[in-house]
Amino acid sequence: MKKQISSFILKSKIILLFAAAMMVLPTAAKQKRALTEKDMGTIRSGELWPDDKGEHINAHGGGILKYNDTYYWFGEHKSEHTSDALVGVMCYSSKDLVNWCNCGVALSVTEPAPNQESLRMSRRGATTDSDIERGCILERPKVIYNPVTKKFCMWFHLELKGQGYNAARYGVAVADRPEGPYKFLYSSRANAGTWPVEGSPMSFDEYLKRDFGTGQMARDMTLFVDDDGKAYHIFSSEENYTLHIAELTADYLHHNGRYTRMAPGGQNEAPAIFKHDGTYWMITSGCTGWAPNEARMFSAPSIWGPWTQHPNPCRGPLAEKTFNGQSTFVLTLDKGDYIFMADMWRPQHPIDARYIWLPIEFEDGKPVVRWRDEWTLEINK
Ligand code: GAL
Repeated sequence: MKKQISSFILKSKIILLFAAAMMVLPTAAKQKRALTEKDMGTIRSGELWPDDKGEHINAHGGGILKYNDTYYWFGEHKSEHTSDALVGVMCYSSKDLVNWCNCGVALSVTEPAPNQESLRMSRRGATTDSDIERGCILERPKVIYNPVTKKFCMWFHLELKGQGYNAARYGVAVADRPEGPYKFLYSSRANAGTWPVEGSPMSFDEYLKRDFGTGQMARDMTLFVDDDGKAYHIFSSEENYTLHIAELTADYLHHNGRYTRMAPGGQNEAPAIFKHDGTYWMITSGCTGWAPNEARMFSAPSIWGPWTQHPNPCRGPLAEKTFNGQSTFVLTLDKGDYIFMADMWRPQHPIDARYIWLPIEFEDGKPVVRWRDEWTLEINK
């Protein structure tokens, strides 16, 4: 009898341990690969990229901030079976862009409270911590540093839990240290009650007018800080038909009400921007969800335009499908070199999505992204 009881206790303990393991499942089942000597300085797009623990880096739709002499990579934590946010935004740090330490969760989703839904309904859309409740969709986080306030400012695309992609909001969080923890401040639609600098009416402006009162939709996004310290939020708006470029307040935590529409009706997503010799370049994708499509490229003499479209900058196998990826960020290195960054999504197994990093070259004054199976980063030479 005693034996039976102790075996029952043992079994219960095993069940409890199993249940506990299940609770942390999003981080438990990871792809592993050890770092090899060959990894030193070498980028291999599409392969498993191990962190300091040998686990595939989990920072998708991401962006990179350099602060002092360290690079911080922020991205969506993805789970085994869902693209919904079960954990939040991850942060990794590196001195050489190849060897990455896992700094953990920078912005955590919040625990669902039993009466959250009714609370949200009663507040009619006002921001609460429940906006980033576990199970929401939290995508394409980007972080910029504000030297005046000395705060790290994170913006991301947010879809409220249970509403698919209908909320189309952006979220803002702030931290005192690059790796966080970030405190969620608010989420919102963009620039309610404000027309773009071009005024209205204009081309393809049906959705702009529809959302004038409640605020413009804000989905795929990036942030950009110009040489003069002014920062911009660039996002797919108007049912993903038109990109908006919106200037931020001096503290980088709100829109200041000045914005322009880019490529109206062009259906651009996944914006990634950089500035080279005074020209603004933007690489985007078309709108085909997780499936890859052909990259687009634009340039302008000012962030306010006019923006001119150029042919696809990608070269090599699968160039017409962005090498099976979708743009997320262009990293500007100190030496004036640029790295094009993209995600190879795996919607059936989101945690296994891969990264594409390729150097940007210039041909006839225009950026070109050529596929390379592997390449060595200049800064590591
Ligand atoms: C893509 C977008 C991703 C994600 C996905 C969902 O077009 O760039 O960030 O939102 O759609 O289908």
